[in-house]
Amino acid sequence: MKQFLYLLSIVAGVALFSSNAVAQPQKYEVGPLKVESRKAWEKVHRPKIYNFFLTEVFGRQPEQKLKPTYQTIAIDDKALGGKAIRKEVAIQFEGMDEPMLVLMYIPHSQKPVPAFVGINFKGNHQTTTDPAITISKNAPKKSELGTDPERGAAVSRWPMEMIVEAGYAVVTVYRGDIDPDFDDGFKNGVHQIFNSQNKPKADEWGTISAWAWGLSRVMDYIETDKLFDKKHVAVIGHSRLGKTALWAAATDNRFAMAISNDSGEGGAALSSRRHGELIRDLNKNFPHWFCDNYNKYSDREQDLMIDHHGLVALVAPRPVYVASATLDDWADPEGEFLSAKYASEVWTLYGKQGLKSESMPKPEQPDNDGWVGYHLRTGKHDITAYDWAQYIKFADQHFRK
Ligand code: GCU
Repeated sequence: MKQFLYLLSIVAGVALFSSNAVAQPQKYEVGPLKVESRKAWEKVHRPKIYNFFLTEVFGRQPEQKLKPTYQTIAIDDKALGGKAIRKEVAIQFEGMDEPMLVLMYIPHSQKPVPAFVGINFKGNHQTTTDPAITISKNAPKKSELGTDPERGAAVSRWPMEMIVEAGYAVVTVYRGDIDPDFDDGFKNGVHQIFNSQNKPKADEWGTISAWAWGLSRVMDYIETDKLFDKKHVAVIGHSRLGKTALWAAATDNRFAMAISNDSGEGGAALSSRRHGELIRDLNKNFPHWFCDNYNKYSDREQDLMIDHHGLVALVAPRPVYVASATLDDWADPEGEFLSAKYASEVWTLYGKQGLKSESMPKPEQPDNDGWVGYHLRTGKHDITAYDWAQYIKFADQHFRK
């Protein structure tokens, strides 16, 4: 009997091994991401694709968990003309010079509210004209000419009232409060806590992965705040921060939705099309964004185990949204669309509708009724009220059922 069981285990082992060998292609085609089954996606393909982006593209985050302290530094119940509560919370970690300052506008509500969480480019004080917003010590310095000349400079990107009126909170943090956006040898920001002595290894985090780590720490805070409906938190980002939003959702499934606005190369766009920005450009101009292993793929897109439709698919089965702008050729709008289209197959495995359009939708004709959303907006590389209106509609479909 013992011998029989032994033989049986060998046979089972061989069968398992060979079925894995069949199920694990060396490389995935640049085309519809066809997978045998939901189980195969979850057990074989997703882990494999995730590991590829983890070790070859964005880099691993440290496993060590840090204990944060949260300090509410301001609260105003009558923000935005009485429509919202404004809160500022400082998230501090030991060893980090300055805290991450989190700015929140939360609509008044009897129930916990869903939220959009995203990083901003130049400081919380630029996302609104409110003169009370704390200016981060990491933010670009004030001009010598006047006081706070930059306040409100990014209001068109953060239509707070519109979002709050739709019933969503907005939560934002300045990128430089997590990790500075320049090649500093990983000496500052969150890297300083973990990597004070050494440069990250070839498969360890670059700045995009550090930003994604910061978004997860903001999510940790949200989980402690009763005003939020923590099951309905969308992570959103524009451009380099759109690349970050996708990676944040891939690494942290507490984000119930991901929105990538004009994320381009290294984000939603397909690299193998070699249209607009190339991997080579990213590695040369922003060497700190990705992990060192990503250098292998400069001018060698054919060596990628999977193109960036794989990154979009990592969000499945949660809803994902990819958007482009007509004048944003550098980000390759068609490459962004095709990526979302090819990834859509994975939602089909869950009985969920991905993108319906067979070809690139016309400007202002969004395909966003399903679980994968896409639109092309007329205009330049930016995030506008039009884009936000689509994201709110998409969130309404998924968060308010
Ligand atoms: C540059 C870069 C893009 C990036 C963009 C941005 O244009 O080449 O990859 O998305 O900056 O973040 O605005």
